[in-house]
Amino acid sequence: MKNIVLFASGSGSNVENIIGYFKKYETKFNFFIFTNNPNAYVIERAKKMDVPCFIVSKNEIKESGFLNKIEEIKPDLIVLAGFLLMFPASIIEKYPNKVINIHPALLPKYGGKGMYGMHVHEAVVANKESETGITIHYVNEKYDEGAIIFQAKTSIDSHFSANDVANAIHKLEHEHFPKVIENLLNID
Ligand code: GAR
Repeated sequence: MKNIVLFASGSGSNVENIIGYFKKYETKFNFFIFTNNPNAYVIERAKKMDVPCFIVSKNEIKESGFLNKIEEIKPDLIVLAGFLLMFPASIIEKYPNKVINIHPALLPKYGGKGMYGMHVHEAVVANKESETGITIHYVNEKYDEGAIIFQAKTSIDSHFSANDVANAIHKLEHEHFPKVIENLLNID
């Protein structure tokens, strides 16, 4: 049995896609979802998939009680999939190289505080970039600066809106994120 903890703040399409991908392994995986947003659509997705989903506030997440809760789960991997808060240093320290994040750009470009979701895609379009992509990386104490595990690129047509870029990025994320997780878990 492997325990995978997923964090999301919004729609949760990556969360649903990851859990769907691992269905092929039947009973080998336990998933746990955490969100900081009581209105996040990921909560509906969790219900639909019958996966436990917990709401934690921005303050709760920093408390030692939250680290205890994570320790009880004994996670093999902690995955930030559209999680928009700073992740607590206490959990990163406890699980070195077991906390990963997906970022919707080719880091180190378009990373750092305030660079998330549509803000990234709007900046990419405003700068008339001809390509963008995704970065999956380990999480450290600084936003978007942990060691890079995987990147994939997609080209941007000159008429693309930020929404078009977001759609292209989601497609890349859905294609690659579960496979990268599968590799990290070293599944036989
Ligand atoms: C994803 O595109 C992810 O890369 C991005 O939020 C989106 C969540 O989509 N994450 C960040 O911007 C983190 N800095 P989803 O809720 O549909 O999975």
